[in-house]
Amino acid sequence: MEAIECLKTRRSVRKFKEELVPKEVVEKIVDTARFAPSWKNTQVIRYTLLEDETAIKRICDEGLLDFALNQKTVGRAKQLVIVSIKGGICGYEKDGSYSTSKEDRWEMFDAGVATQTFCLAAHAEGVGSVILGVFDETKVGEIVALPEGEKVACILAIGYPVFAPDAPPRKEVSELISYK
Ligand SMILES: Cc1cc2nc3c(=O)[nH]c(=O)nc-3n(C[C@H](O)[C@H](O)[C@H](O)COP(=O)(O)O)c2cc1C
Repeated sequence: MEAIECLKTRRSVRKFKEELVPKEVVEKIVDTARFAPSWKNTQVIRYTLLEDETAIKRICDEGLLDFALNQKTVGRAKQLVIVSIKGGICGYEKDGSYSTSKEDRWEMFDAGVATQTFCLAAHAEGVGSVILGVFDETKVGEIVALPEGEKVACILAIGYPVFAPDAPPRKEVSELISYK
């Protein structure tokens, strides 16, 4: 798929077909996502493919801060990707001090860059995704049992789209750009 077309036609998909995305396809998506830029090339973002029905149900019931839209999305999803951060590296000097006044916020910046790259790579493979930012970080981390020192950045629901959603309205270029 051509790059601009991929960027403009990617949508948040919240309803998926029954058919699972094969592991090889998920690996192909991660193979592309790993080319995302990262702070000092620290590459601290990790992806956990979650297909365990009990764990997905627990996230749905206990991990979404009772946010109905996300409960509906996760309730229908057969596959989640937990995007996580290996903490204490990105944004830090070797002695453990922060490198810049943004302190550890480069971790979430890198998670955003990597997640968007993942979602675009998925779209190019015909796989739909939606980023879920409303969730209980502690609860989801507990349910997924990430390795020590890793924290959840966001949840993705993934799958083959039932339909291609319309694009929500965008601001005009003139509102977004300024010149000095
Ligand atoms: C950081 C972030 C968090 C988001 N959290 C949620 C969420 O919790 N639930 C949801 O349904 N969509 C969520 N979205 C998706 C946005 O609602 C969506 O990107 C926006 O409405 C534009 O639609 P589009 O992605 O189809 O272009 C999130 C997107 C981002 C970037």
